[in-house]
Amino acid sequence: MADVRIERERGVVTIAFARPEKKNALTEAMYGAAADTLEAVAANDEDRVVLLTGDGGDFTAGNDISTFAAVAAGAVDLSNSQVGRFLRAISTFPKPIVAAVTGHAVGIGVTMLLHCDLVYVAEDATLRTPFVDLGLVPEAGSSRLLPARIGHVRAFALFALGETMSGAEAVAAGLANRALPAAEVQGVAREAARTLAGKSASSLAATKRLMRDSEAIARAIRADDEAFLAQLRTPEAAAAFAAFAARRQQKG
Ligand code: COA
Repeated sequence: MADVRIERERGVVTIAFARPEKKNALTEAMYGAAADTLEAVAANDEDRVVLLTGDGGDFTAGNDISTFAAVAAGAVDLSNSQVGRFLRAISTFPKPIVAAVTGHAVGIGVTMLLHCDLVYVAEDATLRTPFVDLGLVPEAGSSRLLPARIGHVRAFALFALGETMSGAEAVAAGLANRALPAAEVQGVAREAARTLAGKSASSLAATKRLMRDSEAIARAIRADDEAFLAQLRTPEAAAAFAAFAARRQQKG
């Protein structure tokens, strides 16, 4: 599958972003592959838990900025996108999702954690949602879900100042369960996923359903999506994407 590694073992389905040379930046094809897997897992009884992670040391540097640049230039239309399918699938997923986060987690690499049920993070991971610096707005329902989770001022500093949160800070803020040495994150997350896979599937599904206000979450995702698509077409966003591309050329 396109830069996404899928593995099934004893009821645990691993979805690993696997484009390490680009810090696992997410393309439409990768969102599509992840959405296909989530939909398939939701629909069968053998798969019990999803383990979401990134290969090569990073979780994900977020949406591929070249896709954003193409939308800004009017070359790509994201209104029926794979990222939209992925967000629907992860935000309505009926079974537990465990995330293992190391290295960089940027943008949707952070906001997708708000749709996970257990989050294990490396102590030295860096979590960032620099939406305003990119001329954008929060996505994936995070405009509501992040302040609800960690409080308005902390969420605003992440969104608007582009502040970085370490793994330890993410735990202190309530965004993650445990901060661990990077080498231990995958193992601890997998162990938790295996433990969940051994528990009553119906009880887990009902618990998750009761804990989440699915209508409010769907509303927040729609509102973010609308504002995000509008911001993508602003000159500020186009300038931020051009600056990222120019930085790459300078490095090269
Ligand atoms: N979209 C597209 N390509 C990306 C990317 C993204 N979101 N993030 C990283 N990459 C690419 C880089 O362009 C580079 O490609 P190249 O080797 O062909 O030039 C490669 O991945 C390695 O990234 P680099 O920036 O050289 O690594 P770094 O260790 O110096 O920095 C990050 C890592 C994550 C801090 C930095 O890449 C970054 O800020 N990325 C953008 C994150 C972002 O704004 N995402 C969108 C949020 S809405």
